[in-house]
Amino acid sequence: MREILAVALLALALPAHAFDLQGHRGARGLAPENTLPAFLRAAEIGVTTLELDVGITKDGAVIVAHDRRLNPDITRDAKGDWIASPGPRVHDLTLAELKRFDVGAIKPGTDYAKQFPAQAVVPGTPMPALAEIAAWPGRFNIETKISPLAPDDTLDPEAFARAVIAEIQRLGIAPRATIQSFDWRTLAVVAREAPEIARAYLTTERGANETVFKGKGASPWTGIDAAQHGNSTPRVVKVAGGAIWSPFWRDLTPEIVAEAKALGLTVIPWTVNDPADMARLIDMKIDGLITDYPDRAKALLDARGVAVR
Ligand code: G3P
Ligand code: CA
Repeated sequence: MREILAVALLALALPAHAFDLQGHRGARGLAPENTLPAFLRAAEIGVTTLELDVGITKDGAVIVAHDRRLNPDITRDAKGDWIASPGPRVHDLTLAELKRFDVGAIKPGTDYAKQFPAQAVVPGTPMPALAEIAAWPGRFNIETKISPLAPDDTLDPEAFARAVIAEIQRLGIAPRATIQSFDWRTLAVVAREAPEIARAYLTTERGANETVFKGKGASPWTGIDAAQHGNSTPRVVKVAGGAIWSPFWRDLTPEIVAEAKALGLTVIPWTVNDPADMARLIDMKIDGLITDYPDRAKALLDARGVAVR
């Protein structure tokens, strides 16, 4: 009887529909992407998870950066001048050299600036190392920014993944970290070397950046021929050993989410910014979402009585 009561009380204490709200690049819609101001903003809003991207510097540091080469749309040099295109590779610069760049604003007049008109300008903001945000007590969703189509831009997948794993372990954040990637070669290394770290399998099925390669043989991103698995992306994730699937949100339908859930997958789409789209996806019973506007998502979840875990 006492045990039953304890279980009932525990059930009452747990949120009915705990939801993983992830701030994309911190909160890209509100503050400069992948920077301390964006991570602070996301934390203030009450996200579960900070979504962020990492590269490995010339001297082996794990730095928070989305692009394999510094992005001219968001990067100024030490003199305050916008860098030229193409920017230098992250992998060719040391952490100290990278710290001299300012990524606290989007270059005015660019298409990128038009995409995020409400992003705050925070002059003098450097790229952080992963170590600089490790004290945050929430979860981290850390993306390995590596491409099978650009092997010269980064370390190889084995060395890249090992560097990220080692830093996560050194910082003591393994229980609160997920490693995510479109390049599942890095996830295979994580599964082998650090199975205690959660992995999220990213996919996109549209346009030039597609990664699933349906009807095109084995994908260089997943290493799998989807045709061998009924051209079902959830089945491809499952056969790769995945438990968390993060698809581009437009690739989801209620049927595909149901199929993924039937396979036991956790489904956390990226990058959902319109509240109407968020609401539609929440109705499909997704487990979380990744957004540039965690403020919008939090307001929607609060209004629906959905607890953020
Ligand atoms: O979490 C996945 C999402 O962040 C992938 O897109 O290009 O913004 O890193 P990207
Ligand atoms: Ca990302």
